[in-house]
Amino acid sequence: MKRVDDFRLLFGKKELVPIMIGGMGVDISTAELALVAARLGGIGHISDAMVHTVSDRRFQTRFVSEKLKLYKYNVASSDKSKILFDLGRLAEATHNHVGAAMQAKRGEGLIFINCMEKLTMNAPKETLRVRLTAALDAGIDGITLSAGLHLGSLALIEDHPRFRDARLGIIVSSLRALQLFLRKNARLNRLPDYVVVEGPLAGGHLGFGMDWAKYDLRTIVAEIQQYLATENLNIPVIPAGGIFTGSDAVSFLEAGAAAVQVATRFTVARECGLPDEVKQEYFKASEEEIEVNTISPTGYPMRMLKSSPGIGAGIRPNCEAYGYLLDGSGNCAYITAYNREVAAHPDAKKVSVKDKTCLCTHMRNFDIWTCGHYAYRLKDTSTRLPDGSYRLLTAEHVFHDYQFSIEQKIALPA
Ligand SMILES: Cc1cc2nc3c(=O)[nH]c(=O)nc-3n(C[C@H](O)[C@H](O)[C@H](O)COP(=O)(O)O)c2cc1C
Repeated sequence: MKRVDDFRLLFGKKELVPIMIGGMGVDISTAELALVAARLGGIGHISDAMVHTVSDRRFQTRFVSEKLKLYKYNVASSDKSKILFDLGRLAEATHNHVGAAMQAKRGEGLIFINCMEKLTMNAPKETLRVRLTAALDAGIDGITLSAGLHLGSLALIEDHPRFRDARLGIIVSSLRALQLFLRKNARLNRLPDYVVVEGPLAGGHLGFGMDWAKYDLRTIVAEIQQYLATENLNIPVIPAGGIFTGSDAVSFLEAGAAAVQVATRFTVARECGLPDEVKQEYFKASEEEIEVNTISPTGYPMRMLKSSPGIGAGIRPNCEAYGYLLDGSGNCAYITAYNREVAAHPDAKKVSVKDKTCLCTHMRNFDIWTCGHYAYRLKDTSTRLPDGSYRLLTAEHVFHDYQFSIEQKIALPA
């Protein structure tokens, strides 16, 4: 009977344990979590989502409050088109976050950064170029392009000295998305170093419509593997979404996957950035408490706990401080929804916005509890303390459970 440790992910001459911890913004997949994966010979992700906030929290910078000060005059205005990110500060915040993680890295594994295209920041191209360039400058081992088709992203860094040596990969949820990406980037003569195929059971945003339940990860992975074989393209394929045990992972590796990307199991690890009381909510969740909804202003469905405090909260948009989801013209679906509610209830002190959420604010404050479909099984991965709460796990424990377990078993903490 095989276990994950019987397989290796090959990147050129580098051999890695084929376990990749997926990116979880905003700083849920912390540097501490990624460092454990790297120390144990796998791959960990940090995320550049709301990197100003992350830098402020970790490195005592004041990027958020200074931006708010600059744009304070606009707080009550519904027109957010004037709010721009200072590109120098964006680079500095990225440097702080990536540089510290890379400096602390030990062991044979790698640390990648998750870059979501949907963080358009009122200047999609300029801000994405800075985010990617600064991460490479600061020594990141690799970049995973996510939450978008990224048709022009590689071209933004084609002149960077590390363009060919850093590992660059993309997350797709369909063969069509991968084909589009490959076609658009053919001119660059640089294939992605890996493709994460994310199925409908993943946490975070889904690359599917609300008919996500009709799709199945194994079928999509097989289609993509077949296409790559037909085209003679040797790109490692890394399935993600609902891979909950070592045995689940082995079944994908035996079917030709190069590695697996996992996340939900690590949300209850000590090193994960969620507050401890939120980790308990993840542990306690029942299947009925997990839903896929359309409240994210990105336009993608998102899976989360129904009890997330950010659902239905009608707070004033915080774009002057954050503004990560503003599109190229300063719009965000939450601003539209909020303004509609304010206009409909002119005398109300507080409005409730049911159809969209201010994702910047609520992800920053850990008030949207996004999770994978199998989060309701987290309670089976730990034991309870005398006060009834669940024992937090170490990331090493979870990583090793994926690496060494067999027969669908899950090791409980000692
Ligand atoms: C709490 C949480 C936050 C996530 N945030 C992101 C993100 O910021 N960007 C992204 O590309 N994927 C995100 N994901 C998706 C994961 O990186 C991963 O691909 C997926 O959840 C794997 O499925 P699993 O959670 O069932 O193991 C997130 C997942 C979780 C559980």
